[in-house]
Amino acid sequence: MSDQHAQKQAAAQAALQYIEDDMILGVGTGSTVNCLIELLPKFRLKGAVASSQVTEDKLKALGIDVVDLNFAGTLDVYIDGADEVNAHLQLIKGGGGALTREKIVAAASNKFICMVDESKTVEILGRAFPVPIEVLPQARSYVARQLAQMGGEPVYREDFVTDYGNVILDTYDLDVSEPIKLEAKLNNIVGVVCNGIFAANQADVLLKASSSGVETLLR
Ligand code: 5RP
Repeated sequence: MSDQHAQKQAAAQAALQYIEDDMILGVGTGSTVNCLIELLPKFRLKGAVASSQVTEDKLKALGIDVVDLNFAGTLDVYIDGADEVNAHLQLIKGGGGALTREKIVAAASNKFICMVDESKTVEILGRAFPVPIEVLPQARSYVARQLAQMGGEPVYREDFVTDYGNVILDTYDLDVSEPIKLEAKLNNIVGVVCNGIFAANQADVLLKASSSGVETLLR
């Protein structure tokens, strides 16, 4: 399984063991999750909570009921991918721009199952992949200056608006050696809606696909 897409499919296949008929499943966003969504019709789900409009549309196209999180209560399981993951199952997410909605659904779930291919594992977060930061449009340049003062290099994601009508600053060169502290510090900047570090609320289970199969890691 050296092919990245095959690894995503294998991780998605492994995630099926956490899904049960009659549950309301939290469903993430991205190409790995798309592999999972294709497999969902084999279950009789009570419904799904979608972490993005894109996911919502895909679920509905398969005839799966999409439930508003406000009416779903606490979810048993949320399944999503990630852009980077470290040994503590802390993540960077938001490559697809759905970080805020993803973080909300993950927080409202008892168990967060994260599926990755081997390219996503790193020793220190944020060295190769920038931290996506969702920002209220009016605060974009103020927040960018604050990030620059922290040593970051924010890049405005052109031609992209989040599901909540906000913009994204993909921020390079931040020191993510203490992910929980940085996650909180970024959230404290006025105008920041959410950031793509999932450290205070990391994954509970990591399904890591590689050329030798799918490994399960627990936090
Ligand atoms: C979207 C995300 C995705 O989980 C992340 O970008 C991974 O995507 P893919 O499965 O396509 O590699 O955080 O906002």
